[in-house]
Amino acid sequence: MLTPDILTRAVETLRHGGVIALPTETVYGLAANCEDELAVRRVFAIKGRPATHPLIVHVARAAELPSWARHVPEEAWRLAEAFWPGPLTLVLPRTPRATDAVTGGQDTVALRVPNHPVALAVLEALGGGVAAPSANRFGRVSPTTAEHVRADLGDEVDLILDGGPCTVGVESTIVDLSGKEPAVLRPGGLAVEELERVLGRKVPVRTSATVRVSGSLASHYAPRAGVVLSEPADVASRVTSLRARGHNVGVLGPPSLMLPPGVPRYDVPEDPAGAARALYTRLREADEQGHDVLVACLPRAEGLGIAVRDRLSRAAAPRS
Ligand code: TXA
Ligand code: MG
Repeated sequence: MLTPDILTRAVETLRHGGVIALPTETVYGLAANCEDELAVRRVFAIKGRPATHPLIVHVARAAELPSWARHVPEEAWRLAEAFWPGPLTLVLPRTPRATDAVTGGQDTVALRVPNHPVALAVLEALGGGVAAPSANRFGRVSPTTAEHVRADLGDEVDLILDGGPCTVGVESTIVDLSGKEPAVLRPGGLAVEELERVLGRKVPVRTSATVRVSGSLASHYAPRAGVVLSEPADVASRVTSLRARGHNVGVLGPPSLMLPPGVPRYDVPEDPAGAARALYTRLREADEQGHDVLVACLPRAEGLGIAVRDRLSRAAAPRS
């Protein structure tokens, strides 16, 4: 619950250069006042994130777009109208209000209006923009509860606002509208099909674009255990052969999976939206049990299933 006292404390903390953990509908963010360069630098330091990887600017409403973006194309207004507040981030050419510290020196800025009453109350009361990457250490699993943030970064943030478990569970969908044609830079909590419906055209997914999107690094969102991807029909045989080689195996997947006896399963539902909501919590739970390999059952490649498959393949990618 966000009491008036806590809201005041949160806003004062942001105004004085502090860093707070803020719930959104996608994942928890590590928030700083966008216009306070030192506070923004602290966010990078806490996360251990390279300073050239830009942050998303969170604002209270679409009407603030022109103060951050020097050109707001008609398609941006249409998407904002249809999906904000919501799990959609728009990349647009920036105004000077979006500083180098936030944008990593790029000529564009990423903007979003989150759909969470606590985040919206804080943005409204602050009356400005908040830069907020996911509140996890660089390359690790994003937090979807206040408890996750406490476990990862508890000692280093000035205040953690508890807004309950995130209802979407994966990060926002990032759409680049700064070029000739729109492109998805990161599939996420808003299905690409939904975007295409509103824009009335196909929108390509370009996760390996040259822009610096840390979520597009091959190895990201990684638990400690190794991750092996599997279509539902192959999970049981995968598990059997890994166990035969001496591995301590856990499975991420729906209850309908038939597994060899004695294999722990962490419930990631079959429906794509349910899978998105559960994914990061189950990855953390499984990781705490000390498995050395997690076999992850892939959801269907439609709707939010595309984002879940994206995150799982990054969790499974070779690590440096
Ligand atoms: O759902 C979300 O988007 C969450 C919540 C807290 O809002 N935030 C989040 O932030 O996932 P972060 O920093 O973990 O991921 C933001 C992504 C990064 O991959 C970053 O590189 C990309 O957005 N990004 C930011 N500004 C950009 C820009 N100007 N051009 C291209 N990508 C940009
Ligand atoms: Mg992140």
